[in-house]
Amino acid sequence: MDKAITLVTGANKGIGKEIARQLAVAGLTVYVGSRDAARGERAVGEIGGDARLLVLDVTDDASIAGAARQVDTLDILVNNAGISGDGKTADQEDAGTFRRIYETNVFGTVAVTNAFLPALRRSAHPRIVNISSGTGSLTWATGPQFPHRGTYAAYRSSKAALNALAVFYAHALAGDGIKVNALAPGLRRTGLNATAAASDGDPAEAAAGAVRLALLPDDGPSGEFFSWDGTPAPW
Ligand SMILES: NC(=O)c1ccc[n+]([C@@H]2O[C@H](COP(=O)([O-])OP(=O)(O)OC[C@H]3O[C@@H](n4cnc5c(N)ncnc54)[C@H](OP(=O)(O)O)[C@@H]3O)[C@@H](O)[C@H]2O)c1
Repeated sequence: MDKAITLVTGANKGIGKEIARQLAVAGLTVYVGSRDAARGERAVGEIGGDARLLVLDVTDDASIAGAARQVDTLDILVNNAGISGDGKTADQEDAGTFRRIYETNVFGTVAVTNAFLPALRRSAHPRIVNISSGTGSLTWATGPQFPHRGTYAAYRSSKAALNALAVFYAHALAGDGIKVNALAPGLRRTGLNATAAASDGDPAEAAAGAVRLALLPDDGPSGEFFSWDGTPAPW
C-alpha cells in the first residue's frame, strides 16, 4: 500500500489534518478534503509530501459529485469531517440543530461514502474509517464511569448513528473486500467545541489510531469500533 491513494474529509485542520499529514509522511497520496479552497490549499502546503487539495463539502451533493469525478481509484476513505454543536441535552435542543448536525456527521458520511464507492471498488485493498466518538457509545453512556449525562445529545446521537452505519456498511461491502471500521479518537485539543479546545489531548495520537485502521491488512477486522490506542470500544 506504499503508493495508496487516500482521501480524508475535513482535513484542513484538527484531527483530519493530522491524519492526512501522517498518511503523507508514510508516502501515500493524500487528497486533503476541505470545503474551503483557501483553507485546504494552506493545509496542503503545511502537510507536504504528495498531498493534494480536493474541495469537498460533505453536505453539498454537487460538491461531492465534483470531487468524486476527480478520483478514479481510491484505496482509503477517512470520513472525518464533523461538527458538534453545543452541550445541550435533547430536551433543551431544537430539532433544527439535530438536523444540521446529522446533515454533516451522518447524511454527509453516507453521501460521500456512496459517491466514492466506485473508486474504492477499483482498489485492491479498500478501507473506510469513520471518525466517530467514544461519546457516541451507548454502553459507555449508560455505564457508571461516563460523566456526560445526556449532554451534547445531537452530536452524540449522530455518532451513535455513524457507528451503526459502520456495521451496516461493513456487512454490505464485505463481498467487495471493503473494510469499514469506526474510531473513538479520544478527547483532543481542536476547535470542535469548547471541551475539545480546553483539553490537552494531542490530535496526533488520535490520528495514529485512524492510520492503523486505514492500513489494516486483508485479514484485519471490519465492522468494529476501536479506541485511538487500538483497544476495542463498546457500541
Ligand atoms: N476533538 C475531539 O476531542 C474529538 C473527540 C471525538 C471525536 N472527534 C471527531 O473528530 C473529527 C474531527 O474533529 P476535530 O476535533 O478535528 O474538529 P475540527 O478541528 O473542528 O475539524 C473539523 C473538520 O471538519 C470540517 N468540516 C465541518 N463541516 C464540514 C463540511 N460540511 N464539509 C467538509 N468539511 C467539514 C471542518 O472544516 P472547516 O474548517 O471548513 O470548518 C474541519 O476541517 C470529527 O468527526 C469529530 O466529531 C473529535
